Amino acid sequence: MLLPLVLYAAAVSSTDIFNYGAFTQTATYSIANQLGFFAAYDLDVVYHQVPNSTAAYASVLSGEYDLLTGTIDNAVNLRFNSGKNLTVLGQFDQGPDLVLASIPTISNISQLVGKPLIVDSPVSGYAYLLRKILSSSGLASSEYFFQTVGGTNLRYADLISEGLPNGSAVYATIVTYPFTAYGEVLPVHQQPNILARVSSFENPVSSSAFTIAQSALDDYGQSDLLVRFISAMYAANLYLNHPRNRECSTKAIQIQLNITTPTAALEYLAATNLTSGEVSPDKKFTVSQVGLKNIIAVREEFGGFSVPSDFDFVAATAPGPGKLIDYSVRDKAVSGLKRELLSAGC
Ligand SMILES: *[C@@H]1O[C@H](CO)[C@@H](O)[C@H](O)[C@H]1NC(C)=O
Ligand SMILES: *[C@@H]1O[C@H](CO)[C@@H](O)[C@H](O)[C@H]1NC(C)=O
Ligand SMILES: *[C@@H]1O[C@H](CO)[C@@H](O)[C@H](O)[C@H]1NC(C)=O
Ligand SMILES: *[C@@H]1O[C@H](CO)[C@@H](O)[C@H](O)[C@H]1NC(C)=O
Ligand SMILES: *[C@@H]1O[C@H](CO)[C@@H](O)[C@H](O)[C@H]1NC(C)=O
Ligand SMILES: *[C@@H]1O[C@H](CO)[C@@H](O)[C@H](O)[C@H]1NC(C)=O
Repeated sequence: MLLPLVLYAAAVSSTDIFNYGAFTQTATYSIANQLGFFAAYDLDVVYHQVPNSTAAYASVLSGEYDLLTGTIDNAVNLRFNSGKNLTVLGQFDQGPDLVLASIPTISNISQLVGKPLIVDSPVSGYAYLLRKILSSSGLASSEYFFQTVGGTNLRYADLISEGLPNGSAVYATIVTYPFTAYGEVLPVHQQPNILARVSSFENPVSSSAFTIAQSALDDYGQSDLLVRFISAMYAANLYLNHPRNRECSTKAIQIQLNITTPTAALEYLAATNLTSGEVSPDKKFTVSQVGLKNIIAVREEFGGFSVPSDFDFVAATAPGPGKLIDYSVRDKAVSGLKRELLSAGC
């Protein structure tokens, strides 16, 4: 048994630590992590559960995280409104099982009049999509208000307990993968109601995006790390989206999230949904330009931009070096795909 130990030691010593910030453990991440795809790229990925978007984006800009997956609206807001040099390397999903969910006694959006709605941040992320759903359902912005609570994991816990830690009542919030399906398997009297699916109001949307500090691209060593991370996620994403791998993908999700087999089966369906799952238009993490345009239009509709009136969104969202979207790392990652991973067993 000496040889394997020696090989193991050699493998460990050449492994680089990669600090990954995320709001949720996605299906793609679960596969990359559970089936050894990160290890195949000599990466020891440390998952950092982010508490809220404010802290998360500060951590990626400060270099505490090598990369963050967060909805692209945050990068749009921080870059265009606040001059923060965030760069999106690619799109990860189209609004991950994104729904407006409520406590069991609320069954209609009209019942939210006068109620607080819990959000991560009232000026970023999903708050504008939430405004869109409410306004399309006949609620004026004066008829509801936001309470800032934090990331999806915190909000889901508060929704299920129907209250905030300080005792304030909770009625509804935006929920994402994997929490949407968690709600579906709860005992009936505890199940949140799905008041609306975001995709029924705005479709397509460009949502979770691989986001880094632009300065990270200037550092060659760092860029190589980024390429390997995106390659591993790319392999995992192709793996997830191939029906042949359904059983192994579901198992990876189940182990990663520590959930039952039926729940994992629901998560697999959510993650592979072509409308609201973990798939980009060309399956190469390319940002959906229509999806991004929709996100920007919704933010604009509710006064979420402080840019000059002649600001050129088309030019600002065109990909290129030093721009909001830069595909240079993604392009290298796609060519660095280790094809053998696509037939991994479990
Ligand atoms: C975000 O999380 C940080 C770290 O937990 C916390 O200090 C901060 O108050 C939170 N901010 C918001 C706006 O929730
Ligand atoms: C929800 O409320 C609206 C307006 O009050 C009403 O038009 C609609 O029929 C209700 N929907 C359901 C499913 O009860
Ligand atoms: C409880 O916390 C929420 C979110 O921070 C806040 O909006 C609300 O005013 C607080 N309620 C009380 C009773 O302190
Ligand atoms: C997994 O879930 C089970 C049942 O809910 C729980 O008892 C166990 O502690 C969890 N394991 C981990 C590693 O979180
Ligand atoms: C994907 O989700 C949408 C709702 O967002 C649903 O209408 C559709 O049936 C789902 N597709 C599949 C293949 O499950
Ligand atoms: C952002 O990057 C541009 C160059 O692309 C540079 O001129 C500017 O100073 C940077 N801003 C910050 C806040 O670092």
